[in-house]
Amino acid sequence: MKSIEQLFSFKGKVIIITGAAGAIGGAAGHLFASLGANVVISDLNGEGAKKVAAEITAESGVEALGIQTNATVEAELDTLVQTTLEKFGKISGLINNVGWGAATPIWESDTDKMVKSYLLNTVGAYNLTKRCMPYLEKEPNASVVFSGSLVGVTPSPEFIEYSTAKAGLMNLVRSMAVVSGPKVRFNTVLIGSVDNGDSTLAAGYDPEMLRRLSEAFVMKRRGFPMEIAYGMMFLMSNAAEWITGIDLRIDGGGTYKSKMPKKD
Ligand SMILES: NC(=O)c1ccc[n+]([C@@H]2O[C@H](COP(=O)([O-])OP(=O)(O)OC[C@H]3O[C@@H](n4cnc5c(N)ncnc54)[C@H](O)[C@@H]3O)[C@@H](O)[C@H]2O)c1
Repeated sequence: MKSIEQLFSFKGKVIIITGAAGAIGGAAGHLFASLGANVVISDLNGEGAKKVAAEITAESGVEALGIQTNATVEAELDTLVQTTLEKFGKISGLINNVGWGAATPIWESDTDKMVKSYLLNTVGAYNLTKRCMPYLEKEPNASVVFSGSLVGVTPSPEFIEYSTAKAGLMNLVRSMAVVSGPKVRFNTVLIGSVDNGDSTLAAGYDPEMLRRLSEAFVMKRRGFPMEIAYGMMFLMSNAAEWITGIDLRIDGGGTYKSKMPKKD
């Protein structure tokens, strides 16, 4: 039997995290570095990425790299991979965490909005993973984790672009998983509503809507970013060596509605 230290140590690992100047990606960066990994904090917000990387290095004593990357631009993904290899010499894990989507009622979208969402939430993850594969395949227990969303598995007509793109992402992950074993594992963290500051407000919510949303969850609150990072850590760890192609749902129990109609 492996010790907890053997199961959850990430010493010697190099993990790229996208969208890591944000709430969940940033939490994952702090967590993996605290467990010994060199993390590459990549984000469209280059200043934010560098700031998070500097905080991680100061906190953990492990070197972290902050780099500006637009996940929808292939040349920038090339630079991300090359810079990681030059700095740390390998890629042991990847967290495709970039994603966002504004509320759009189902009949108010158009080609441009649909395609942009697909590029951001789905295609960017495909393009980066493809570039990392030759290096991941050389590493023991190599693992790729994706940030999925509950809206991608439930009818979500209020978020038609984002939910459709996230649904596509999940099938992409499953396809990657079945052809990549036993060398590389692929899993999705299926995320419920997590507090990410202004980002959800910018998507179309207001504080009162978020309060009502929290009340509807079994656990009566939104999640903390670190609660998603813990799931990512499990999926990447040696405890999950036989787990690939799954969706790990972390959503505070979701919402429950009785199947029995009320009597008058
Ligand atoms: N927070 C939630 O409630 C929730 C729920 C379900 C799924 N998710 C998913 O989890 C992931 C992380 O969400 P979060 O809550 O941390 O969001 P966040 O908004 O806090 O962070 C997202 C980060 O992605 C970056 N980003 C945006 N466009 C980019 C691009 N083109 N290239 C590179 N980086 C880009 C932003 O700068 C930001 O730092 C996303 O994929 C999101 O869809 C979040």
